[in-house]
Amino acid sequence: MKESIERIFKELAELKAASQAEAEQARVRFLGKKGEITALMEQFRSVAPELKREYGQKLNELKKAAQQRIDELKNSAAEAVVAAAPKEDLSMPGDAIPQGSRHPVSIVRQEIVDIFRKFGYDVAEGPEIEDDYHVFEALNFPPNHPAREMQDTFFVSTGHPNPLLLRTHTSSVQVRTMESQDLPIRVICPGRVFRNEAISARAHCIFHQVEGLYIDKDVTFADLKQAILLFAREMFGPDTQIRMRPSYFPFTEPSAEVDVSCNICKGKGCNICKGTGWLEIMGCGMVDPNVLKASGIDPSKYSGFAFGMGVERIAMLKWQVNDLRHYFENDMRFLGEFATATEV
Ligand code: PHE
Repeated sequence: MKESIERIFKELAELKAASQAEAEQARVRFLGKKGEITALMEQFRSVAPELKREYGQKLNELKKAAQQRIDELKNSAAEAVVAAAPKEDLSMPGDAIPQGSRHPVSIVRQEIVDIFRKFGYDVAEGPEIEDDYHVFEALNFPPNHPAREMQDTFFVSTGHPNPLLLRTHTSSVQVRTMESQDLPIRVICPGRVFRNEAISARAHCIFHQVEGLYIDKDVTFADLKQAILLFAREMFGPDTQIRMRPSYFPFTEPSAEVDVSCNICKGKGCNICKGTGWLEIMGCGMVDPNVLKASGIDPSKYSGFAFGMGVERIAMLKWQVNDLRHYFENDMRFLGEFATATEV
């Protein structure tokens, strides 16, 4: 038995395996059920008692050494497989990481905000879920105004004197600003608004607005006209003309709709401006004294103007997109068009 143990030690030291399969064969040969070391373990039972201690120790060492040696062979065979695998071609071009871009609505919104910031306006934000008071009542909407009907406004709760609703314009933020800020006030209110409208190429139930409010002593309609003309020229180019048409809003008096000269045909008439040479961009007017009063401002001392525009509408004019729905569908082919427009 002693010779067998020594022989196996020697064989283990010289053992080689070209593959994991060969290493496994060696394991079966020495340590398998019918393996040589297993057989020695069997023989050990009949070893004379005085030799048991010595042989027992040797056999255990042998078993351990065999296991270790075979594990080593298996590992180095596995490493050899990896090393022999074809090398990566480091000259191959990498997979491009698709680069995101800002949404066109957010690009235009930022552009509008930046223009008014330059004029000294602050940015104010407010809640999208508002109450009737801030969206309608404080803005001089009579109780039976159609905007207060379910078919025009999304109500969150009804049956309450001041029900909750999704704001239909960001004028609600102007009310909150008048309530909380000292005069003079010069703010713009960008944000998402909601109207219960059928979705079409020209209308959506969710869209974005930027509204503005300026209140100080002696603010006149001429100031309003000047602010809008400067904005229009920054936004659509230095040759842009504006015109104002009388209009009606409960919260402004007098009120006007603003058109800019068509930046595509330069006023000659094309299919974007429907042959008129003009494009409607916003509503505006002098803040109604009732609105000032509702927010605790004395209309005999202060006056102001307000305006509001749809961001999608400006974006449609800027990029000549003739269907509003494109801005909401998140089709990557459409959004990808604006990847380079991010740095406007
Ligand atoms: N709040 C109006 C709207 O949503 C826009 C507007 C704002 C008009 C301020 C006049 C003055 O249509």
